[in-house]
Amino acid sequence: MTRHTLAISLILVLANIYGSLGRIAFEKLTDFDYRGNTYYTVKNLSLYECQGWCREEPDCQAAAFSFVVNPLIPVQETLCQLQNETSANNPSAVPQRSVNMYYMTKLQLRSENVCLRPWAFERVPNKMIRGLDNALIYTSTKEACLAACLNEVSVFGRVHFTR
Ligand SMILES: *[C@@H]1O[C@H](CO)[C@@H](O)[C@H](O)[C@H]1NC(C)=O
Ligand SMILES: *[C@@H]1O[C@H](CO)[C@@H](O)[C@H](O)[C@H]1NC(C)=O
Repeated sequence: MTRHTLAISLILVLANIYGSLGRIAFEKLTDFDYRGNTYYTVKNLSLYECQGWCREEPDCQAAAFSFVVNPLIPVQETLCQLQNETSANNPSAVPQRSVNMYYMTKLQLRSENVCLRPWAFERVPNKMIRGLDNALIYTSTKEACLAACLNEVSVFGRVHFTR
C-alpha cells in the first residue's frame, strides 16, 4: 500500500467514525427489554463484558444481559444475548417488563461528546421530569435529540423527547 492510498484509507476511516455514522453510544434500560433476534449467546460474562462485545461487533444492535439471583453461590450466573435485530429501533415499539435484566441498545450519534462510559444514557420508560428545561430544541429523531443533549453545554444530564 502506498503512502497516498494509506492516507486516503485513513481519511475514509476517520470520515466513517466522525461523519455519517457518528459515534457509538448505548442506552440502558433496567428490567425492561425489547423483542429482537438473538444471534449469539454467552454465559457468565459481566455486564461490562457483554456490552463491550456488542460495541465491538458491527452486527450487534442490542445486548440483553440477565442474571439469576442465587444467594447460595458466590458467583452469579449470567446470560448475555447479542441481537442483530431489535424492535428498539422501531420508534413505536414499546419495551416489555422483564426481571433481572439490563437491555442496552446501540445508538449511532452525531456527537463528539460521547463519554467513555459503558452507556451514555439510562432510560426510564413512562417517566419524565417536568420543569427545569434550559433548552428547547426541535429534532426529527430521538437520536438527534440525544446528540443535541450531548452537544449542548447548558444542558446537564437530562433529556426528554416527545413525539
Ligand atoms: C440476523 O441474524 C440471523 C441469523 O441468526 C440472520 O438470518 C438475519 O438475516 C440477521 N439479520 C440482520 C439484519 O443482519
Ligand atoms: C456459569 O456460572 C455458574 C455459577 O458459577 C456455573 O454453575 C455454570 O456452570 C457456569 N456456566 C458456564 C457455561 O460457564
